[in-house]
Amino acid sequence: MTLEELRARCEEVRREWAQASASAHDPEALEALRVRFLGRKGALATAFDSLRTLPAEARAAAGKLLNALKDEIAAALEARRAEVEREALQARLAGERYDLTLPGTWRPLGRLHPLTQVRREIEEIFLRLGFDVASGPEVETDYYNFEALAIGADHPARDEWDSFYIAEGLLLRTHTSPVQIRVMKSQPPPVRIICPGRCYRRDNPDATHSPVFHQIELLWVEKGLTFAHLKWILREFVTAFFGPGYEMRISADFFPFTEPSAQVHIRKPPGAWLEIMGAGMVDPAVLTEVGCDPEEVTGFAFGLGVERMAMLRWGIEDIRLFYQNDIRFLSQF
Ligand code: PHE
Repeated sequence: MTLEELRARCEEVRREWAQASASAHDPEALEALRVRFLGRKGALATAFDSLRTLPAEARAAAGKLLNALKDEIAAALEARRAEVEREALQARLAGERYDLTLPGTWRPLGRLHPLTQVRREIEEIFLRLGFDVASGPEVETDYYNFEALAIGADHPARDEWDSFYIAEGLLLRTHTSPVQIRVMKSQPPPVRIICPGRCYRRDNPDATHSPVFHQIELLWVEKGLTFAHLKWILREFVTAFFGPGYEMRISADFFPFTEPSAQVHIRKPPGAWLEIMGAGMVDPAVLTEVGCDPEEVTGFAFGLGVERMAMLRWGIEDIRLFYQNDIRFLSQF
């Protein structure tokens, strides 16, 4: 072989490389390329072998030529490898691309029952005013539900037709007022509590009656409290819950455990008056019963219907809707 022939052979290898490497698109093809050109029996190794057949004075130049070609192909192979990796990554990314225009997975979002919303809101109003939240049992004794509240034996609420009795002297509480007694007996004044809870009465369900309903009781007992403080609390509550622009009217009523007793109406002029609660100054007989001196402290209480509040707020006309768990109703709040 002559140096010229070797030069020509190098050009040939270079062309073969260019052609073969352009069509290598994965790691296996690259490995095959490496074996074919740079392997122990590859094109370059064969060319190095032929150096022996060259005249001695041409070998140095020929060796240089072959080494240059070997370096060139090794570098090109590396470059091609990087390129193939980039191509593979791009192909993978293209396959994984998210279509942001597809509709998402819809998860229905729950919400609080309207009665829970109202209860929490009222709790917050009174927590801000410094009241604590108290609770008492729904199965109550005759003593706490009636007797201690001065509800006499002849009172119609005591009738088994009006209350759910569980056993002699044991019934489902008909209001949250028994919690007044329990709290006053368990702590000395000042007492500032509200008590939300379920109540039970033997009513046939209709648009305004339900055998189970909710009340929130308020009780404030302290030295020097007057009816004016009650009015102030009522005003604060009406404005906080219903918003500005409501008129409030207080008129006489009767409850055995408050004296004087009142009922509270509100209206947004020119609308009609709507009763929102019963209220009054805690009767001295009740204070005495729980061990307070009515000459020392006075107090006031009210009981409001949670359903009533929710019905007024949202213009709901049938109390039964609250208990039917109809998602079409509940999802509106
Ligand atoms: N407990 C009374 C009722 O259920 C409401 C009330 C509470 C009245 C507190 C006065 C004071 O009707």
